[in-house]
Amino acid sequence: MNNCVTVVVGCKWGDEGKGKIASLTSKNAKFVIRATGGSNAGHTVIYNGKKVALHLIPGGITYPNKIGIIGPGTVIEPKVLLDELALLKDSGVSDIEDRLKISGRAHVVFPWHKDLDELHEQVKEHPIGTTKRGIGPTYSDKATRKGLRIYDLLLPVDELEKKINEDVFLHNQLFLANNMEECVVDSKKFAMTFAEYGQLLRPYVTDVLPIYMETIKNNDGIVIEGAQAFRLDNDDGEYPDVTASHPVTSGCLLGAGLPAQALKLVIGVDKAYNTRVGNGPFPTELPSSIDENGNLIPNQPKLEGDIIRELGYEYGATTGRPRRCGWMDAVMLRTAKYGCGIDVLCINHLDTLGKIGMELGYVKVCVAYSYMGKIINYYPDNTRLTHTIPEPVYETIEGGWKIDESMRTFDSLPEKAKQFIEIVERISEIPVKFVGTGPANDDIIEKK
Ligand code: IMP
Repeated sequence: MNNCVTVVVGCKWGDEGKGKIASLTSKNAKFVIRATGGSNAGHTVIYNGKKVALHLIPGGITYPNKIGIIGPGTVIEPKVLLDELALLKDSGVSDIEDRLKISGRAHVVFPWHKDLDELHEQVKEHPIGTTKRGIGPTYSDKATRKGLRIYDLLLPVDELEKKINEDVFLHNQLFLANNMEECVVDSKKFAMTFAEYGQLLRPYVTDVLPIYMETIKNNDGIVIEGAQAFRLDNDDGEYPDVTASHPVTSGCLLGAGLPAQALKLVIGVDKAYNTRVGNGPFPTELPSSIDENGNLIPNQPKLEGDIIRELGYEYGATTGRPRRCGWMDAVMLRTAKYGCGIDVLCINHLDTLGKIGMELGYVKVCVAYSYMGKIINYYPDNTRLTHTIPEPVYETIEGGWKIDESMRTFDSLPEKAKQFIEIVERISEIPVKFVGTGPANDDIIEKK
């Protein structure tokens, strides 16, 4: 079997800037695929100088002649998808009807999944801080074998209504028991609406396997644009502060519907500093003016985390929430190398880290953890048992650096920036192949 699949995967908690390197890699590919998650993800692509915000459609669709696939492992909110299609068409992206394929096996996110997401968060002692896009409840219906797939939206409306009835039977009882009468589902009404969505999506719905058969045989390039990230994986992340899908490399292949033997390369993406939205452990997090609900506390003196957030403009693309910020955790990268099979790294925001260093006077990298009286070089999986979060051991680089437009090769970068990359490579045991040096699509340097 030909090895023609490149997976672009986030190494931490999402928002690493996967879109840019995925787009660059897609230039030589024929297919670009979204494989996991749903509209909890968000990335912005620049098309004809304009920003286009996408949640479900792979960003590589903006290149002419590329075929975009939304894979069977995703969960799709039809209205969001239809709005994205309209946005792309309005922006001048051509031939989308011929170039976007949606797996009929992908599951459908309905409004009640969002209501359930809200309810689950309310009753938890420690809410996860989900994006409230209904992702967990949709995958949970999938696991209990009563979820609806995109194929079901193409059924006659009475059959669709029956399936909805079966799905919501227990959900409605839950809503009633929790004084959420307004959420009780009227199956008939939703069957009509979603059957209409189904007809609008019909031209795109397909069986992806025959496409892959040809592609793999012809050794055409395939890029899977990962969503979320290693530390948010339902198994590999720190449960329960995780998403419901499997955004690690193996989960991306499964979610795309591709065999592991077709894998060629895994590009791990990270930022030069780290961020997280939602709750859960973040060893290198710095103090900042964010309250326990994830909101900014106004009129506070600026703390280290606030400085990073402002310089990197770290606010969630999907929810607008301020992101928690901290130093680069290279030990977590090493953990990702073995948990997620990463061949090479792309480190974004090297320019921003330089500015952070100039403002604070130093830049730090986590090079080991101190945990339960020992120094360790991986993230342990029993922290919920020990009630202890590993404490970072740092290496410090004094001062910062400035990256300007004349620096187009790795060698031309400031010495301290190169020193930072050397530490990341040494601790993570992964070669850095790309560095992001600015916001534009081509602000990316390949390290030869
Ligand atoms: P859910 O995926 O909406 O269920 O949220 C579960 C956790 O994953 C929460 O902490 C979210 O903030 C986080 N999350 C989900 N999708 C993304 C993403 O695309 N970027 C960053 N965090 C995400």
